[in-house]
Amino acid sequence: MGTRPIGIFDSGIGGLTVANAVLKASPGEKLIYFGDTAHLPYGEKSPETIRRYSQTIAAFLLANDCKLIIIACNSASSVAFEAVRDQAAEFGVPVVNVIDPVVEFVVKRGYHKVGVIGTRATIGAQVFPQKILALDPKMDVASLATPLLAPMIESGFVKGDISRLVIENYLEDPALEQIEALVLACTHYPLIKDEIENFYAAKGLQVEILATNEIVARYVHQLLEEHGIQRSSENKAIHHFYVSDYTESFEQTTRLFYTKEVPLEQSFIFREEASDPEEPSPV
Ligand code: DGL
Repeated sequence: MGTRPIGIFDSGIGGLTVANAVLKASPGEKLIYFGDTAHLPYGEKSPETIRRYSQTIAAFLLANDCKLIIIACNSASSVAFEAVRDQAAEFGVPVVNVIDPVVEFVVKRGYHKVGVIGTRATIGAQVFPQKILALDPKMDVASLATPLLAPMIESGFVKGDISRLVIENYLEDPALEQIEALVLACTHYPLIKDEIENFYAAKGLQVEILATNEIVARYVHQLLEEHGIQRSSENKAIHHFYVSDYTESFEQTTRLFYTKEVPLEQSFIFREEASDPEEPSPV
């Protein structure tokens, strides 16, 4: 028991789907959320760049005395997990990504074929198939990059003809034929879970749609218990939601991903970038 917060980060505000699920499963916890809105989308960035951003954010969360770090972003979980885990290990802080708990869940279920959809960075890194096959070499894993979905959802196209057509277009890909489950490997996709379920139901197919935020939240709850580091809920938790670039529209969009609109606080942890020799100074 204690009062230390959980640190959670994402490329932007989509990771609030994970924050929401974590608080639902562990309501007494206090969160420090960091959304790297200055650098999104991570899904289109190189592994090196995503790793560098992730480590800067992890340093910020560690400096804020977080007892656990959750990498809510699938793209960052795919390419920066080991780097962040090693960085946090020096402080004795565990790191949870949004891939391993899902891999564990999928393998336990014992499917024959699963599909995974996510950003180009997540799918390109091939971490899901590698980790699943390491535990169950017989499982067939079909992964498909679906880069239009995150910006579509963030722009508010969740229900209606546009999203239906885009979803159909991706899910009709022959690679996903005969899957028994589909992993929604992106922070934004829980918002279109119903639409994806409708797509398969209309075809008379039984495909289990796996919202990774819920699986990760259950895993985090268990981990807090196992480590005996749950927060005592006597003191009301005041959460902090930081972003690296504040705009009013980001703040309004938080309503899509979180139970309510939340105040975003601007943070300047990337300010030193201009003097970073790897980063050319702005002209
Ligand atoms: N948060 C990212 C992910 O889960 C999606 C948005 C982005 O590309 O930055 O992969």
